[in-house]
Amino acid sequence: MSQLLRVQCFTVSRDGFGAGEGQSLARPFGHVDPADLVSWAGDTASWVNRTEPGGTRGLDDHLTRDYPRGIGAEIMGRNKFGPQRGPWADHEWQGWWGDTPPFHTPVFVLTHHPRPSFTLADTTFHFLTATPAEALARARQAAGGQDVRLGGGVATIRAFLDADLVDTLHIAIAPIDLGRGERLWRDPRELTDRFHLEAVPSPSGVTHLLFWRR
Ligand SMILES: NC(=O)c1ccc[n+]([C@@H]2O[C@H](COP(=O)([O-])OP(=O)(O)OC[C@H]3O[C@@H](n4cnc5c(N)ncnc54)[C@H](OP(=O)(O)O)[C@@H]3O)[C@@H](O)[C@H]2O)c1
Repeated sequence: MSQLLRVQCFTVSRDGFGAGEGQSLARPFGHVDPADLVSWAGDTASWVNRTEPGGTRGLDDHLTRDYPRGIGAEIMGRNKFGPQRGPWADHEWQGWWGDTPPFHTPVFVLTHHPRPSFTLADTTFHFLTATPAEALARARQAAGGQDVRLGGGVATIRAFLDADLVDTLHIAIAPIDLGRGERLWRDPRELTDRFHLEAVPSPSGVTHLLFWRR
């Protein structure tokens, strides 16, 4: 199949949460320290946000290397883009990622609150009110024949799973329970009616789950 819709390096807790409760500017992942969920990725040599040389070169790194490979556009939810809710008070917020966002492709931010597109370095953010199928069609058009990454957060991944539009998922399970927040699943086997599932434990303590369509 050409132009897959791929979830890459998305991390959930053992009890299935991809973000905690109470997201804010000070607490981007809510009550959980982001490092407790996603440090496995940040520790790798190939992680897209890495600024210092070094990093691990094992299994985790093989998987973070796949994050940008063959990707021509990203779709994300508005809550991943920032902590604001409701109509935009102004357009000063340009995402968490500074002047050089790690996407290097068009990014389609799903939101019910219109906002003009803007470009930072080689990443252009577009704001879309659309169904998952419409958003995917726009992103595929922009992706120049390459795959589209579904960047999260949880609500957005769930919406695309509900619409049955996701082709592959790489979800890492971090060795922590959150108890509350945004929950992707109660059990990953909820997806095995539609997806094959392989679970691969890493020495870092996370378990990588790879899903592909039956
Ligand atoms: N664990 C990880 O690996 C990981 C990765 C990325 C992000 N995160 C975290 O995940 C959290 C965000 O996830 P989330 O589940 O709260 O939210 P989300 O999926 O990022 O965004 C949900 C919001 O996007 C907008 N939206 C979604 N679908 C839409 C559609 N079809 N049309 C129009 N608008 C649509 C709505 O916002 P409006 O109606 O307000 O516009 C909706 O409330 C953040 O804490 C982030 O840091 C975790």
